[in-house]
Amino acid sequence: MRNIAACESCHGESDNKMGSPRLDGEPVAYVRAQLLAFASGARRNDIHAQMRNVARQMTPEEIEASARYFSSR
Ligand code: HEC
Repeated sequence: MRNIAACESCHGESDNKMGSPRLDGEPVAYVRAQLLAFASGARRNDIHAQMRNVARQMTPEEIEASARYFSSR
């Protein structure tokens, strides 16, 4: 409802969408920093703003939770 597509629809496992890096096992601090950078627009290399549109809609709690989730995988 808040226009946040499921992360796994692009960042899947072996069947991830072309151009979407795997996030599993990335350090919490790295994933958090990238989401904050996309949300603020400091990182803008995502074609068609795919990640900026997602990250801008996320609360700080959701950014933290997804960083921890992907890092733990
Ligand atoms: C519509 C497809 C799509 C969705 C949905 C999506 N992403 Fe992404 N994401 C991308 C693409 C494409 C990139 C790579 C952008 C680039 O650098 O070219 C990316 C990059 C990232 C990166 C940076 C990875 C790196 O190696 O620097 C993080 C972190 C990330 N996404 C997290 C998420 C999270 C968390 C969600 C769910 C809340 C999500 N993404 C949903 C397409 C998507």
